[in-house]
Amino acid sequence: MSSAVLDTTVPAGDDSLAVETRGLTKRFGNSNAVDGVDLRVPRGSAFGYLGPNGAGKTTLIRVLLGLTHADGGTMSLLGFPVPRHRDRALVRVGAIVDEPRFHGHLTGRQNLRIMAAAREPAAMDRIDASLERVGLSQRANDRVSKYSMGMRQRLGVACCLLGDPQLLILDEPMNGLDPAGMQDMREMIRSFVKEGRTVMLSSHLLDEIERTCDAVAIVDHGKVIRQGAITELLSGTAFELRIECSTPSAARDLVARTAFGSNVTVSDEGLNIGLAPDTKREVIAEVNRVLVEGGIAVYRLEANQASLESWFLEVTSRLGAPE
Ligand SMILES: Nc1ncnc2c1ncn2[C@@H]1O[C@H](COP(=O)(O)OP(=O)(O)OP(=O)(O)O)[C@@H](O)[C@H]1O
Ligand SMILES: [Mg+2]
Repeated sequence: MSSAVLDTTVPAGDDSLAVETRGLTKRFGNSNAVDGVDLRVPRGSAFGYLGPNGAGKTTLIRVLLGLTHADGGTMSLLGFPVPRHRDRALVRVGAIVDEPRFHGHLTGRQNLRIMAAAREPAAMDRIDASLERVGLSQRANDRVSKYSMGMRQRLGVACCLLGDPQLLILDEPMNGLDPAGMQDMREMIRSFVKEGRTVMLSSHLLDEIERTCDAVAIVDHGKVIRQGAITELLSGTAFELRIECSTPSAARDLVARTAFGSNVTVSDEGLNIGLAPDTKREVIAEVNRVLVEGGIAVYRLEANQASLESWFLEVTSRLGAPE
């Protein structure tokens, strides 16, 4: 028996967002692998979660999918608050976490049958179309142990498609692919978006995200540093004011109280302040005055053209640095 009343029991999240998190946090011991993440993934977009190794990309995805619990914050998938309505949300979510894992001694098709059996009955009928879609029809009856890395990734995507997903979450889908394989994966992702699906993918490759995605969040040490539409982030016209100074956090508090203090981050040497493209240079003098009058020693002021790349390079330049 079905009941139409059931649907009204689900609190409505923001339906224009495929993924929404607020203050999402996941701790391992004393460190936050996911640190107060507020994520807004618009429906119908390809959204890149971009960050260096160890930034917390896989952990965030695992938390979203309920593979590990969150220590704080809230989240919703496709408008359903999770974990409360996880089952209802995950019916229309397809995901690959880390590397896709399959039974090597079984064929690609047999693996998909096993996966389909765990989903709704219609999933079984989607096997052929899914194989076709990822270009594996000819190899569907080969054992997966004979598949290349690229073919395994494709089979992973075919597996996602079994549930006719509105949201695909792909953890490093370009990993291990040669340039042609990357190009295929990119085209596949774009074609899903064209069909109105949302694809959230993680990557440590800026270039891939720029080519594939409409929007991006840049993550480092579990924190989202920046997010938004790539066209906006890449407009390349904004300024970044770099300041070397004493007591950066006190300096940040001083600047935060000013009109130009909405986009301030603390660095090891001082502050980085994002400023609008048409910012007059008097503002730089004003920032200097506020700091000096506040008892901060200013060693250096430098205005740079900000870009997504410069942000990302700054993040990845710390790759391998102690956390
Ligand atoms: N099960 C775990 N137990 C303890 N620490 C963990 C665990 N899983 C992840 N971490 C730590 O959390 C941090 C984030 O790891 P995560 O795998 O999410 O990063 P990532 O961005 O996916 O990295 P990569 O690009 O290498 O895949 C790392 O410091 C990692 O060591
Ligand atoms: Mg990872």
